[in-house]
Amino acid sequence: MSKVYIKTFGCQMNIYDSARMRDALGSLGYEETQSPEEGDILLLNTCHIREKAAEKLFSEIGRLNEIKKQRAQNGQDTLIIVAGCVVQAEGEEILQRAHAIDIAVGPQNYHRLPEIVAHYNRKKGRVLEANFPADSKFDYLPKTHATSASAFLAIQEGCDNFCTYCVVPYTRGCEYSRPADEIIAEARDLVESGAKEIMLLGQNVNCWHGEGASDLGELIRRVAEIDGLERIRYTTSYPSKITENLVRAHAEVEKLMPYIHLPIQSGSNKILKAMNRQYTAEQYIEIINRFRTARPDIAISSDFIVGFPGETEEDFEETLRVVKEVGYGSSYSFKYSPRPGTPAALMKNQVSEEIKTERLIRLQELLLQQQKQAYEAMVGKEVPVLLTEKGKRKGQLIGYTPYLQTTHVNADERFLNQIVPLKIKKASATSLSGEFVCDKVAVKK
Ligand code: SAH
Ligand code: SF4
Ligand code: F3S
Repeated sequence: MSKVYIKTFGCQMNIYDSARMRDALGSLGYEETQSPEEGDILLLNTCHIREKAAEKLFSEIGRLNEIKKQRAQNGQDTLIIVAGCVVQAEGEEILQRAHAIDIAVGPQNYHRLPEIVAHYNRKKGRVLEANFPADSKFDYLPKTHATSASAFLAIQEGCDNFCTYCVVPYTRGCEYSRPADEIIAEARDLVESGAKEIMLLGQNVNCWHGEGASDLGELIRRVAEIDGLERIRYTTSYPSKITENLVRAHAEVEKLMPYIHLPIQSGSNKILKAMNRQYTAEQYIEIINRFRTARPDIAISSDFIVGFPGETEEDFEETLRVVKEVGYGSSYSFKYSPRPGTPAALMKNQVSEEIKTERLIRLQELLLQQQKQAYEAMVGKEVPVLLTEKGKRKGQLIGYTPYLQTTHVNADERFLNQIVPLKIKKASATSLSGEFVCDKVAVKK
């Protein structure tokens, strides 16, 4: 059987896309392998969000090309395929810069991979497919399956918000929402193949407006009806587009986990305006309060950008103030990275690298302190944990609490992919460790 090795960079949407490319190539007889040396196809799914992310592609291609050469010496042919957001943004350039690439496909074209691979002829030239087709790739992809008890499901893709720093509207195109029935069917396939948790994905997931439900809140209620599905999550949400129905779902839908990732980016209204984010810091806090009224224990997480053009020390301190007011359970924070083709990259008042680094350190110190407090507050509590991964140590499993906190437990593999009640014994700033609440553990045979 032919094999495909897939390496994924970037966000959860890219992880989902990689699984769908695996499905698509599976229809051509390719099976996934974790070892690149075995790969008849070596596939890189790339990210363009920050400069560092995009640069990783070239070092990785160099590594894969060595493997390709080694395999050629053994008489084995290897295709190097590059997919994802870098292809959409700079397809021509990367083909010119890296001659080892055979095929490059953008995020809206990967359903065509079986056809492209089947007809590929190196002598006729390398292939670049990076347009925005009128029809949806989802209509062409074969059925999917879960490889873990926690699965991703893309329900919405693309973005019409055009934040001035961001490449996503250019790499993923305009907003598209999949119909509810299609989403429910895919969710059923995932649950039948072992998923207990589904993370509904979208670049602006709460802007979902597909056929068959009024908003994301109603869609979640429909997904919650699937027997065997125990946890629902969704990400990433755009603050000003939160509906009351979604907020209420957190109070009413038991399967919906008490967690929301709601990126604020900056606490300064001047910077939010320059970023073209369509809310103020005050409005953001008001939305958080609505979630907390509906579900008092909800964990809040966010993304932050420091050193956006024009950000003064005072603007940055506004961000610190908002962080203190909200109290985050976890967060992601980045130095602003100027991206080609975005308006912010052309702004005159760029912030120096030194200041960006200094602000990032200060912000991350505060965020880590808050995360530590949130983790420490779990000690002594009994919580259901979905165990999805094997730990580094033998006999250890890793899972997630409803608040998406990483949790370690000593347990054998029978418990992998199960939800078990754990008593939390210890906490660090980044993980919990728990023990079984013995009489409550039931292992499904
Ligand atoms: N749609 C989501 C974010 C998707 S991109 C939203 O609007 O919240 C993920 C995160 O990457 C963003 O939230 C932002 O914090 C960060 N990001 C995007 N572009 C960036 C850039 N040019 N420099 C630094 N961070 C960036
Ligand atoms: Fe990028 Fe803004 Fe769209 Fe998020 S909302 S994907 S940050 S343009
Ligand atoms: Fe990166 Fe594209 Fe996701 S740029 S963050 S892989 S949408």
